[in-house]
Amino acid sequence: MAGEKIRILIVDDIAETRENIRKLLQFEADFEVVGVARTGKEAIDLSQELKPDVILMDINMPDMDGIAATEAIRRKLSFAQIIILSVQNDPNYMRRAMLAGARDFIFKPPRIDQLSGTIRVAGAIAAEERSKQTPVAMPGMMPGMMPGMMMPAMPKGKVIMVFSPKGGTGCTTIASNLAVAMVNEETKVALVDGNLQFGNVAIFLNEQGKNTIIDLAPRADELDYDIVKEVMIANAASGVHLLAAPLRPEHAEKVSGEQFGKVLTFLRQMYSYIIVDTPAYLTDVVLSTMDVADLFILVTSQDIPAIIGAKSFLSLTDAMRINRKRIVFTMNRYDKRVGNPPEKVGEYLKQEVVSVIPLDERIVINAVNRGVPFMIDNKMQPIGRSIAALADTVKDTLAKLDAAENEKPLR
Ligand SMILES: Nc1ncnc2c1ncn2[C@@H]1O[C@H](COP(=O)(O)OP(=O)(O)O)[C@@H](O)[C@H]1O
Ligand SMILES: [Mg+2]
Repeated sequence: MAGEKIRILIVDDIAETRENIRKLLQFEADFEVVGVARTGKEAIDLSQELKPDVILMDINMPDMDGIAATEAIRRKLSFAQIIILSVQNDPNYMRRAMLAGARDFIFKPPRIDQLSGTIRVAGAIAAEERSKQTPVAMPGMMPGMMPGMMMPAMPKGKVIMVFSPKGGTGCTTIASNLAVAMVNEETKVALVDGNLQFGNVAIFLNEQGKNTIIDLAPRADELDYDIVKEVMIANAASGVHLLAAPLRPEHAEKVSGEQFGKVLTFLRQMYSYIIVDTPAYLTDVVLSTMDVADLFILVTSQDIPAIIGAKSFLSLTDAMRINRKRIVFTMNRYDKRVGNPPEKVGEYLKQEVVSVIPLDERIVINAVNRGVPFMIDNKMQPIGRSIAALADTVKDTLAKLDAAENEKPLR
């Protein structure tokens, strides 16, 4: 809700560290440090009592480590989002932290911009999770529900980011056709244009974006189902709902990364899949999308600039501790007469190409020029079948990730 502060609990066994973090956070008007804990056990007790949105958790503490405390807290207080702070630069630690249910991982000493950005994203997620547990009726969401009835936990939609570090590789083609492949009666799909300056998703679907992200961004803190439904453009030909880019490039700057992230987080309540098309460079909007994305479709082609770009992106995601299992590496415009086949590129980047989409200029260009995604009328062609296979890969990968998350970490 607008104006509500993010309530934060700091957990660290060293008094000076606790104090330093508290000082860093006190200048942020939307943060409130509601408590500090010195041990893992104290953190569990205090989180029960204070019900914070975000917990900043140290790893090494005398009684119980931060990972065990994280797991215990998440079990009791499922909306609370835990950010691990650690000097440990050990991927194994991070993996265990993530498996225990931590939201994010930051190295000590934290930089204020990084820390506050991470806390805001975590705070937005906590607010969303909390609202699911609050007994309010959401208009239109649950027909037949009486006010005051407990909302059952809504299935949480998955955010899928489609990215290529080189323009023209086929992100928009893939994002729009994948959306069409995934939508059906029971599975609602949102297609979001994350290219705010020169986004063209609306053109791919032959929709004139009368409403755009500009209509939602200023209300990012007070979104509700009706507002969002009004702004989303329902594409009659496919059933996909589109959130269009601003109509003029100079309006792009009216949308902050933070607002964009909050909109995506809200869309999780309304759609099973939220597919975000992105530009070929890292804007604040793209970085916010990376923060909330469950899955990344990294698109390459057979040319060296695209391959080198993919390599840089993978080093970035490695540095951000994004699990490589969350990356669906896709080769588009595949032509067997050209060098750099998928196996070779996969080997070179140490990331297997799991989806290959053939070059088919006739079908692709016709589809764009008519504004009818080829998944509507050409889905039995090889290119259509390759997108259908990509949709299956995406679903399988998400299911595997969910299964791994529910698995208890071995200790
Ligand atoms: N598999 C493909 N076969 C042939 N042409 C393609 C294919 N995928 C994309 N294209 C074409 O390549 C160009 C760029 O595609 P687009 O999806 O707009 O890329 P991006 O969004 O990454 O900039 C477009 O002209 C599109 O029609
Ligand atoms: Mg594009």
